[in-house]
Amino acid sequence: MRPSSLYFSVCLIAFATGVWGCLEEGGARQPRADAVAVLRPTEANTVEGVVRFAKTDKGIRVMARLTNLAPGLHGFHIHEFGDCRASDGTSAGGHFNPTGAPHAGPDTEQRHAGDFGNVLANDDGIATLDLVSELVRLDGPDSVIGRSVIVHADPDDLESQPSGASGARLACGVIGLAAR
Ligand code: CU
Ligand code: ZN
Repeated sequence: MRPSSLYFSVCLIAFATGVWGCLEEGGARQPRADAVAVLRPTEANTVEGVVRFAKTDKGIRVMARLTNLAPGLHGFHIHEFGDCRASDGTSAGGHFNPTGAPHAGPDTEQRHAGDFGNVLANDDGIATLDLVSELVRLDGPDSVIGRSVIVHADPDDLESQPSGASGARLACGVIGLAAR
């Protein structure tokens, strides 16, 4: 085999594997994750989803995809305890708040570490979120590993204390280390 055709073959294999990798992940290449939460529905709900956390130079990138939501806005936060045992999700406690800040929206400087505001579900009940937070930690005493992510029935008004008046807890998932 001449060197040029060998090169072509290697490229073809790399290309083919790359395409297969894309197909495996549902058509879009996903960045690797350092932590993950799998959200399961609370009692009498069907909402579920996956939230992935990845370290970046600017902070922690948070990528979420949730399904079976009513169309519209839903409060979305990190809660204090990685405990989804209660049928209504209340065992997860209040908002994770390592700095003693008031509840606020994601664009307000003084806020809870996991105040992500709202996710917006479309007519198919699917909501996605992709943001970079400078408050979320995956290491050290303020790490969110072992905490939980909750999605709520109602919109977070971004100002009511202590948690934005976002109502019932529809799904709960414990944040753990990702297998990548
Ligand atoms: Cu919440
Ligand atoms: Zn909050």
